[in-house]
Amino acid sequence: MMQLKKFQDYTALSTAAAAMIIECVRKKPGALLCFATGDTPRLTYQLVAEIAKKEEVDFGNCFFIGLDEWLGIPPDNTGSCHHFLHQYLFIPLGIHPSQFQLFDGLTTNEDGECERMNRLIEKKGNIDFMVAGVGMNGHIGFNEPGTDMNSMAHVAVLDETTRHVGKKYFQDEVPISKGITLGLKQVLQAETLLMLANGLKKAPVIKRTLEEEISNSFPASLIQQHKNGILMIDTEAASELETAQK
Ligand code: F6R
Repeated sequence: MMQLKKFQDYTALSTAAAAMIIECVRKKPGALLCFATGDTPRLTYQLVAEIAKKEEVDFGNCFFIGLDEWLGIPPDNTGSCHHFLHQYLFIPLGIHPSQFQLFDGLTTNEDGECERMNRLIEKKGNIDFMVAGVGMNGHIGFNEPGTDMNSMAHVAVLDETTRHVGKKYFQDEVPISKGITLGLKQVLQAETLLMLANGLKKAPVIKRTLEEEISNSFPASLIQQHKNGILMIDTEAASELETAQK
């Protein structure tokens, strides 16, 4: 069953999340990792890089697989998932290019790109540790509301909310209408699924995640069924929960 962990604030949550990631890699140096990008996990990753350096935790045998990417956005655009992962993880941790495979947002062969990622996960075995955020519409990765629970990597037409909220990542106005993402099946099959949410704006999202019917119409709610699901939230994100859950 999923565990719910509450923290005083964003720093405490990020510290606990970073500790879990470090522990995973200490236990399994060759772990297959899949990490979301976005505002939520930024501090977690910065702390992971700091701890790894200070305590000499070796990420040299890990492999990182991309969770998602904006279609049509070049990797050097500062709003791309690609750029984020390099900035906060790969460069600070000294990850070699042979240690990751990310979705190519500029692909001209979308199906082929999805197949490539599906086959890679199949070959490498299960994802050991996934870090997920949760979108304002309940999405995980770019698995928008209504996505099939058995979906594998696919191209997603982004809904209104995702397109609107997504603007925050980009310096210039760019067309963001589609994303490419691992599917819900792959997310839910991860050995450990750590989902993070902080801040007041996520309070209604967390309420729906935990108090609505578990269903793919609000993908984040599916974490409740994950045998090794951990949902870390801060006081603000917990603020709309029924008192019993608070
Ligand atoms: C990005 C991703 C998205 C985000 C979600 C929350 O790689 O997977 O699902 O996790 O949109 O984004 P933030 O953390 O910016 O609120």
